[in-house]
Amino acid sequence: MSDLEKISSIFNAKIDTVKTKEDLQSIKTEFFGKNGQITLQFKNLSSIEPEKRKEFASNLNKIKEDLTNQIELKNSELENLEINEKLKNEKVDVTLPVRPFQQGKIHPVSQVIDEISSIFSEIGFSVAEGPDVETDYNNFTALNTPDDHPARDMHDTFYLEKNKKLLLRTHTSPVQIRTMINGKAPFKIIVPGRTYRCDSDQTHAPMFHQLEGLHIDKSITMGHLKGCLDYFIKEFFEVKNVKMRFRPSHFPFTEPSAEVDIGYRIENKKIVIGEGDKWLEVLGCGMVHPNVLKNVKVDPKKFQGYAFGIGIDRLAMLKYGINDLRAFFETDFRWLNHFGFDPLDVPTNYRGLSK
Ligand code: DAH
Repeated sequence: MSDLEKISSIFNAKIDTVKTKEDLQSIKTEFFGKNGQITLQFKNLSSIEPEKRKEFASNLNKIKEDLTNQIELKNSELENLEINEKLKNEKVDVTLPVRPFQQGKIHPVSQVIDEISSIFSEIGFSVAEGPDVETDYNNFTALNTPDDHPARDMHDTFYLEKNKKLLLRTHTSPVQIRTMINGKAPFKIIVPGRTYRCDSDQTHAPMFHQLEGLHIDKSITMGHLKGCLDYFIKEFFEVKNVKMRFRPSHFPFTEPSAEVDIGYRIENKKIVIGEGDKWLEVLGCGMVHPNVLKNVKVDPKKFQGYAFGIGIDRLAMLKYGINDLRAFFETDFRWLNHFGFDPLDVPTNYRGLSK
């Protein structure tokens, strides 16, 4: 057997045992690498006697071609195997039932904001928004609360700068200013949003939610305010009757100002809203102060109206029997699963708000 025939038969025996691309690569190196058996034969060509060289070279080329073809064949065989293996593992059985998946829940605060928006939109309010970072001017000054006003102390403000020009809004009332300065009377808006105060216990969180209401037109009175709030409370708590009382109060941006309480009683350890001899404070309100209107270039001789501010978290706690405000913001999955709402249950007045 000639040298070339020997190389060929060794190769044939080896290529049959190849199982992986790594095996194939090592054969390639063994025969065609820098010191591979075929490569060395080419290097030796010059030492062969001239008469035999031509024939040897032609045989060598044939073998080289044969081995190269075999390597390529093996390579595509291995690639096919690999693809088939993948297809086998990744196949999808479309006849199988869909896998049950974990559904997300809507946070009670988001749900309540949707409910409130739906209730007020029924009587012609539109939803306005403003930024969490406010100027001191919009949050206080324009709302008739100058620098030395004692009401500022009630707000435990988070200031963002030493010079106290920027802050985290302490209430949603600055959106009254933003809306009126950028628009034209009449105005009829609600403003749900995040608010901040430096305060934290079972009933206070440093970040909480408020709902502002504002209705300005030519002849809006306290009577309209009462009617509007009576409608809202009944719709929100889904009750037919609500005992409500207005207590005189003070806010710099309203004159007169009032706080509103609703009646309730405890029955079987549960709170029943609307009736009973106990009172629960739910919101602050009043007739917008003429100074506020002047600050936003609305003529107080032509226009007047009411505003109110409601704590959204408090309403959510009352309606859905949640007794610790802090739980709202702890992002506990189990809590959310229990108190959260189905994402497809968008509240509407017709279908029932919380069903
Ligand atoms: N901004 C007040 C607060 O955070 C609530 C409030 C009271 C808003 C009376 C009003 C209002 O618009 O008229 O305590």
